[in-house]
Amino acid sequence: MRLRHQMAASRPVRVRAFAKINLTLRVLGRRSDGYHELRTTFQSITLHDTLEFVRTGAGFSIACDDPRCPADSSNLVWRAAEALWSVAGRNRTMPGTAVRIKKRIPIQAGLGGGSSDAAAALRALPQLWRIRVPDSDLHAMARQIGADVPFFLDGGTTLGLERGDLLFPLLDWPDSRVVLVLPAFGVGTREAFGWWDDDSRRGTTAAPGESDRVPEEFRNDLELAVAARHPEIGRIVQGLAQVGASYAAMSGSGSAVFGLFDGDRQARDAATRLAGAGRRTLVSRTLSRRKYRPLAAPYLV
Ligand code: C5P
Repeated sequence: MRLRHQMAASRPVRVRAFAKINLTLRVLGRRSDGYHELRTTFQSITLHDTLEFVRTGAGFSIACDDPRCPADSSNLVWRAAEALWSVAGRNRTMPGTAVRIKKRIPIQAGLGGGSSDAAAALRALPQLWRIRVPDSDLHAMARQIGADVPFFLDGGTTLGLERGDLLFPLLDWPDSRVVLVLPAFGVGTREAFGWWDDDSRRGTTAAPGESDRVPEEFRNDLELAVAARHPEIGRIVQGLAQVGASYAAMSGSGSAVFGLFDGDRQARDAATRLAGAGRRTLVSRTLSRRKYRPLAAPYLV
């Protein structure tokens, strides 16, 4: 890692941060570090935030058009910037940097918005700061910022083991429309895993007969825990199946529920029929790793 130039004026850098859904999510048990051992299939989708990074006189600031998105050091983008600079900046102070986040990925939805923004910062800041950071260092930093962050460096269809951060690229999932149904409430990741812990102590994590229709792997173990507290989740999953989704499940720790559809028209009809009653719907598409690479690359503006 080395500084290639003095910190001279540079053009703003923009980058897209794509959302994900979890096509499958099995919780295999609790780990000694407090995390949970997972086997999950991540899938990138076209829904994305856009981040713009600009050099300023001094300091680091974040502005976001969604008031629920933190603008302080609790934002994972802040953590990403600090991690990068502590490795790449040696003893210099961080160059003045302002970040603007255009938020489209719903918050507390299990779509990885905060983690994807952090990975986008890890891709974009080396360009803004004109530093070179090896991929292996970026992956190590990503893992420290959050279990989902490493996935967003490469995207596509990917198997995640351990905390979800030991990654194996899979063959791309066939191009599908993804209908997202967002209930009026959000769910915190820690909260959802806590519910899974409570249920597993009581022996209620498995629902007999649940997996009759689809292969054992195709389920989200957190869905049972979240739906037990928020029955709306179960109603949405059923509703999506009734309007023709080839597969429907909660994404990650919720609260978003997705349905997969082959056709655009069918997906739009489903989104219309599932909307209302405090729910919001969005239609997105799966994004292959090959397409992810150029679309997720930072660019000068
Ligand atoms: O890694 P990250 O900070 O995004 O995770 C948020 C929380 O989700 C963790 O603090 C932990 O409670 C829970 N989690 C977990 N097992 C995982 C991933 C996340 O228990 N594999």
